[in-house]
Amino acid sequence: MTAILFVCLGNICRSPLAEGIFRDKVVQSGRGDAFTIDSAGTGAWHIGNPPDPRSIAVASTHGIDIASLSARQVMSSDFDRFDQIIAMDRSNLASLRSLQNTGQAAQLRMLLNTPERDVPDPYYGGDEGFQEVYDLLESAMEDLLLSFHKAT
Ligand code: 4NP
Repeated sequence: MTAILFVCLGNICRSPLAEGIFRDKVVQSGRGDAFTIDSAGTGAWHIGNPPDPRSIAVASTHGIDIASLSARQVMSSDFDRFDQIIAMDRSNLASLRSLQNTGQAAQLRMLLNTPERDVPDPYYGGDEGFQEVYDLLESAMEDLLLSFHKAT
């Protein structure tokens, strides 16, 4: 069992979408039992809230339902529970590095790392930003799942 946590700032736009897309791919590939998948935010503003309606909408146009997810903040135990904690942008990664304690085994990484690139924060923009995020995530999740096929 591999445990993966996707992390952005608010846990309402990018990381719930990442969670939903990766879960969909894992289930479609018949490996639903092999992964624990979750998402969280480094910030606390949206704790308990559902994803942004624009993330729910873009997921829904691809047959993915993320409406029942609920935002939470990254917590210290995440660095013990998850094998990989995957940041959407460099600022998220820096926050995660500052929260991880010595001896906590989670591997921290950027989602887009060849080359290293941010998944842009779509919160203050328009609907087209959410489509761009969806497309970036869709292709990144394909690569992520393949990386586990190779490893296992
Ligand atoms: P996310 O987007 O990090 O992709 O969930 C944001 C959501 C909310 C805020 C910033 C980014 N905010 O400032 O409230």
